Amino acid sequence: IANIRKKLPLVGIKAIVTAGPTYEAIDPVRFIGNHSSGKMGFAIADELARLGADVTLISGPSAQQSKQRTVKRIDVTSAAAMLEACLENYTDAKLCIMSAAVADYTPVTIATQKIKKQDGGGLTIETKKTTDILKFLGDNKQPGQLLVGFALETNNEEQNAIDKLKRKNLDFIVLNSLSDEGAGFKTNTNKITIIDKQLQKTTFDLKSKDDVAKDICQKIISILKNEKA
Ligand code: CTP
Ligand code: CA
Repeated sequence: IANIRKKLPLVGIKAIVTAGPTYEAIDPVRFIGNHSSGKMGFAIADELARLGADVTLISGPSAQQSKQRTVKRIDVTSAAAMLEACLENYTDAKLCIMSAAVADYTPVTIATQKIKKQDGGGLTIETKKTTDILKFLGDNKQPGQLLVGFALETNNEEQNAIDKLKRKNLDFIVLNSLSDEGAGFKTNTNKITIIDKQLQKTTFDLKSKDDVAKDICQKIISILKNEKA
């Protein structure tokens, strides 16, 4: 087994992967969240581990389970906790793949008691921006580190993805096309376009998230190979 492992392409490479949604608490019983299932991130973590990488998976609330027993899972709830877990594991990580659907806004205060229904009117919750984890990692990227982000867009997809690639100092970005049926949050399939920092664009067919994870990992392996050459 030792000999087989040695031949795997990502042996000795430490990777962190974020997955799933974040939940931003409003009061003890309510939160702001989103429909991310975590499937894509878990599939990437499994594939990286299968290829020999030392994987830490930082996941928001998700029902997914890792298939690879070597994946180290850190469960978090909020965007702030996800940031903290990323920072704890970032310095010695060669690869960072941020596939989580992190909340952009979080309530300014968390009510300590359940908010009671009032007579008349609606309820307004004041929010503040969360830290953009991916941009923070991009701003602090060390030489040799490889940073991968995702973009979920509904319009002006490629230009928005390229803007994110540049703004967040990424090596490549995975654009999720929601316009296609069978692609997105809850499905088992995804349709992606990879755009790298040379602005080279590759569009893939609709396929299972496990196969999408393979395509993403092959892109990583090809970048690592070019690095060595
Ligand atoms: N991301 C992050 N931390 C945040 C917000 C986003 O790490 N607080 C990461 C996501 O994991 C993803 C990438 O940034 O890899 C893009 O997320 P997306 O929501 O598409 O982009 P935003 O920059 O948040 O812009 P917008 O939601 O306005 O499109
Ligand atoms: Ca966002």
